[in-house]
Amino acid sequence: MGNVKIALRPSSISDASLRYHWFNDAEFTRLYLGRPLFTSYRQVEDEILLSTYPTLSTGLYELAIQTVETNLYIGNTFFRKMDWQNRSAEYGIFIGDSERRGAGIGPEVTQRMLEQGFSEFGLHRIWLTVLAFNERAIRCFEKCGFQREGVLRDAIFSGGQFNDVMMMSVIAGAN
Ligand SMILES: CC(C)(COP(=O)(O)OP(=O)(O)OC[C@H]1O[C@@H](n2cnc3c(N)ncnc32)[C@H](O)[C@@H]1OP(=O)(O)O)[C@@H](O)C(=O)NCCC(=O)NCCS
Repeated sequence: MGNVKIALRPSSISDASLRYHWFNDAEFTRLYLGRPLFTSYRQVEDEILLSTYPTLSTGLYELAIQTVETNLYIGNTFFRKMDWQNRSAEYGIFIGDSERRGAGIGPEVTQRMLEQGFSEFGLHRIWLTVLAFNERAIRCFEKCGFQREGVLRDAIFSGGQFNDVMMMSVIAGAN
């Protein structure tokens, strides 16, 4: 899909400073559903630490996105709320480095994660929520096979207003 070569690797505690910077950036917290306005450094470290524990016990599988040529950490992608009985999981992605958005990395990472989710984890349904005004993210997910399921009205208060939230999902074998 994209021209930028990217690698996915486990999160590392050395990611904390960039991640802390993104999670306290106003434009980022506006787009990234559910993030509080401020996240402490300790909280960022705790979140990274959680991702190093076994997926079977945490229900979380998180990877860092890194450029291949410059070894630069630019964002994260994950499954969480992994539900083994119903074989479903929530999907998420963020490219924290705004300079790296708009280059096809999001769709490429999402495609790779879907392949892994369906073939390695044996998932049947992968779902997500996204702010309804976040058209770039919705387009990214639709390109990868996610379908719109419905809108949760005024579900998130951010940017000084209530925002609609879009539910999306992709089912194994559907694309
Ligand atoms: C959402 C995100 C993962 C998308 O990844 P990306 O690499 O920036 O995606 P791209 O812009 O390269 O590709 C997505 C598609 O959206 C299109 N797009 C870009 N801006 C758009 C806009 N304002 N409206 C509609 N479509 C748009 C692109 O043209 C592309 O479609 P195309 O290939 O058919 O041309 C990334 O921008 C990001 O992390 N943003 C900040 C955090 C966030 O919003 N995370 C998602 C929360 S659920």
